[in-house]
Formats: sequence, structure tokens, C-alpha cells
Amino acid sequence: MSAKVIDGKAFAATVREKVAGHVARLKADHGITPGLAVVLVGEDPASQVYVRSKGKQTVEVGMNSYEHKLPAETSEADLLALIDQLNSDPTVHGILVQLPLPGHLNSDLVINSISPAKDVDGFHISNVGLLGTGQKSMVPCTPLGCLMMLRDHHGSLPGMNAVVIGRSNIVGKPMAQLLLNDSCTVTIAHSRTKDIEAVVRQADIVVAAVGRPEMVKGTWIKPGATVIDVGINRIDIEGGKTRLVGDCDYDSCAEVAGAITPVPGGVGPMTIACLLANTVTACCRANGLAEPEGLTA
Ligand code: GUN
Repeated sequence: MSAKVIDGKAFAATVREKVAGHVARLKADHGITPGLAVVLVGEDPASQVYVRSKGKQTVEVGMNSYEHKLPAETSEADLLALIDQLNSDPTVHGILVQLPLPGHLNSDLVINSISPAKDVDGFHISNVGLLGTGQKSMVPCTPLGCLMMLRDHHGSLPGMNAVVIGRSNIVGKPMAQLLLNDSCTVTIAHSRTKDIEAVVRQADIVVAAVGRPEMVKGTWIKPGATVIDVGINRIDIEGGKTRLVGDCDYDSCAEVAGAITPVPGGVGPMTIACLLANTVTACCRANGLAEPEGLTA
């Protein structure tokens, strides 16, 4: 078997088109422009790239982008004061504090100081609790993107066996929760799981989010299963060059799977598209308007 390749780049473009349509309607019918504030503390090069890309795509779909770049030595009090100001600014519907933060700042404290209604990352403890109890919440962007691709590919998910590899707060745990909310039978596998290969082989859906290059092999995959690869790992190859690979060994998995996301061009592009979707959702909720269809969990 040769797997269908799930094109995340193309899918993300359709999500952005939908977002742009909702933004245009919000402007035309209600005179509202959704606004996303992104806060970057310090000069981490990877974070700078992400933040630039978020700002660019925010403007491309017609929303307002507010970038706040603070020096690495910013005090917790100053950062919390900025978040307070953004919380009470009616033109800001979404707030994202880029992680990781410099070591002297308490990430949990900072994230939990964002108004839950504006927490477009879905990391606030209130949103985690709402998602865990199946209530309306802001949903973390990467798992939301994976869910959208899975629903699009399968139509509906109830009764499927899903194995999520990785238990991070950003991807693994919310992903498992979303699949459970869609009535999958969900297992979370991690570094201490016994006979992980046998566990993964039970899965109709595999979501790999461990950050270990090419860990999941084709021999672990049940024939016909859907493989969603969240990993983005840079590895060294010959000649001093590097290459991006996922958490799955693409060639061997693609031989066995029914469908698979590539790296790059799979899950990656969906994350920012879902950030834009969450910002429109937050804007609609803040204004008592109907939520955009197809852009929420
Ligand atoms: N750093 C890497 N990924 C993310 C993300 O999804 N959200 C935030 N806030 N920071 C990140």
C-alpha cells in the first residue's frame, strides 16, 4: 500500500481563506476588525521567525496584528502589566505570548494571567479545564489543526482507536482530549510505555508528537492507519547539510499507512492557520456573534 499524502499546506490555505471570509463579514456587517497581539520576550531566533510569520499571516487575512517585542531582561511585573493592558483593550481579541520565555519568568503565571477569552493558544488553565470537561473553550492550535485534518480525511471519528505518542501540555494531552471528545478510544503512549510498538499497532489513528526524529517505524503501523506527524526535527546529513524530518520514518510508514502527513508541509502550516481561526472565534464570542463554522473543535 502507498499512503495518501495529506497536504497540510493546501489545507491550511483553505482554513486561511475561510478566516479571511469571516474577517471580511465582521468588517462589513459589524464594523469590527479582529486583532491579535503577539508578545515576544528576548531574541530567540526560532521564536523571532515564528512571530514574524504569525504577524504576516494575520495581516494577510485582514486582521490587525499588534507585535510587542520586549528585551530578554524584562521583569515579570512589566510583562504582567502589558498583559493586563492587552486584556482590557477591546481592539485585541487574541493574545499570544511566544514560548519559551527567558528562564527568570514563570511561564505558568504569565499564561494564566491572559484573559481566558483571549487565550488563542488555549494554554490557560481555564481553557484546559473547559476542554477536559467537553465545554466550549479555546483549543490549542496544533492539536486543532490535526483534528481538522483527521475529520476532513475520515468524515467522522467515533469508535476509532487513536494512539497519541507524547504527553506534552501543548500537543499530546490536548490532542488526546480532542479525540476523546470526538468519541475515539484513546491511548497516550510516552517514553515509559511498555512495548510501544504493539500499542501503536492497535491504532487506526496515530498522532506522533514526541520530538524524536524518525522514531516511529513502518513496522509499528497497522495497515491502512492514518499517521499524523507533529514532529519537526532538524537532523545532520552528509556534507555538513541538515534536513527536516518528523517523528515518523516517512518512507517506511507511508508504505503501510492509509494516509500520512509529510514533514515539512503537513501539520506545520496548520498551526498558524488555526491561530488565525482561534482569533476570529474569540472575536465573534467577544461580540456575542455566531461562531465561524468549521473553524472550531
Ligand atoms: N512556541 C512554540 N510553539 C508555540 C505555540 O504554539 N504557542 C506559543 N505561545 N509559543 C510557542
